Amino acid sequence: MIVDQVTDLPRPPQRPASGHKGTFGRTMLIGGSRGMGGAISLSGMGALRSGAGLVYLVIPKGIADVVAGHSPSYLTIPLPEDDSGRISSITYADLKSQLKDKDSLGLGPGCGQSDHLKELFRNILLHEEKPIVVDADALNMLADMLDVLHEGPVPRVLTPHPGEFSRLANLPIKTIDKHRQQVAAEFADVYDVTLILKGEKTIVTDGHRMYVNPTGNSGMATGGTGDVLTGIISGLLAQGMLAFEAAQLGTYLHGLSGDLAAQELSQPGMISSDLPRYLGKAWQQFY
Ligand code: APR
Ligand code: MG
Repeated sequence: MIVDQVTDLPRPPQRPASGHKGTFGRTMLIGGSRGMGGAISLSGMGALRSGAGLVYLVIPKGIADVVAGHSPSYLTIPLPEDDSGRISSITYADLKSQLKDKDSLGLGPGCGQSDHLKELFRNILLHEEKPIVVDADALNMLADMLDVLHEGPVPRVLTPHPGEFSRLANLPIKTIDKHRQQVAAEFADVYDVTLILKGEKTIVTDGHRMYVNPTGNSGMATGGTGDVLTGIISGLLAQGMLAFEAAQLGTYLHGLSGDLAAQELSQPGMISSDLPRYLGKAWQQFY
C-alpha cells in the first residue's frame, strides 16, 4: 500500500453570486437523545456555518423544542422515542421520503445506542448513495456491522477518536497511538472509507492519501467539539465537495476555529459552542 502525504488544502466550495439555498445543499443530521440534545445542536451549528443551504436535524421528540431553541436556522424533524429518550419506532422506509432530496447525511451525535437505531443506521448505510458522515455512537454501533461498509455504496466519512477507533478496528488504544498513520490508512483502505482519526494532529486518510492536520489545540479537549466537526464535514459534503477533500478542509477549519477561539478566550476558557462562531473567522482565510 502506497500512501501519499498531502499538504495542500483543497479548493473550498464556490459561492456563485446567483446562488440560492439549493445551490449550497441540504444536509440532514440524525442524533440526539434525552440529556444529549447539545450534541446534535452543536453539529447543526457546525453545518450551518460550513455554508450549507439548509440544515435538517432529525431528533427524538422529547428534545425537539430545546434543540430548535438553540437556533432559529434549524429545520427540525421530531420522531417517536423510546423510554430512554432515543429515536425509536420509525423505520428506514418511513424516513425514505425525507432522505430523498438531501445531499448529505450525518449520523450519531448524541444518539445513544439501541437495537432500533442500529437497524435504522444499518439500512441507511446499506442503501443511501449520498455521502454520509458517521460519528460517536453511530460508530460504536457500526463496529458490530462493519460489513455494511463493504456492501453499501461509497462515500463514507468516519470520524472516530482513538477510543472509538479502538472498537472499530479491534485494536488496543496503545497500538493506535503508536502507529496512528499506519492503522488509519489500513482501515480506510480495507473498508473503502475516508477515516478521520481525531486528537492532536488529526489524521485524514482514504488509504491512498494522508493529511496530517496542523491546526487545533488542547483547548479543544472539551465536550462537544467533535460534534461540531461532524456538522462541518456534513455541510461541506452537501455543497458537493468529495469525501477526502471535505474531511481535509473540515478538519483544518475546525482546528483553526479552535485556534482563533483560544487566541481570544484562552484554552481553558473556550468551549465547544464557541467553535461554530469562530468558524466564521476561520473562513476568512478563504473568502
Ligand atoms: N489538540 C488538538 N485537537 C484536539 C485535542 C488536542 N490536544 N484534543 C481534542 N481535540 C479535538 C479532536 O481532534 C476532535 O476534533 O477535539 C475534538 C474532540 O472530539 P471527540 O473526542 O469526539 O469529543 P466530543 O465532541 O466531546 O465527543 C462527544 O461523542 O465521540 C463521542 O465519546 C464521545 O460521548 C462523546 C461524544
Ligand atoms: Mg465525539
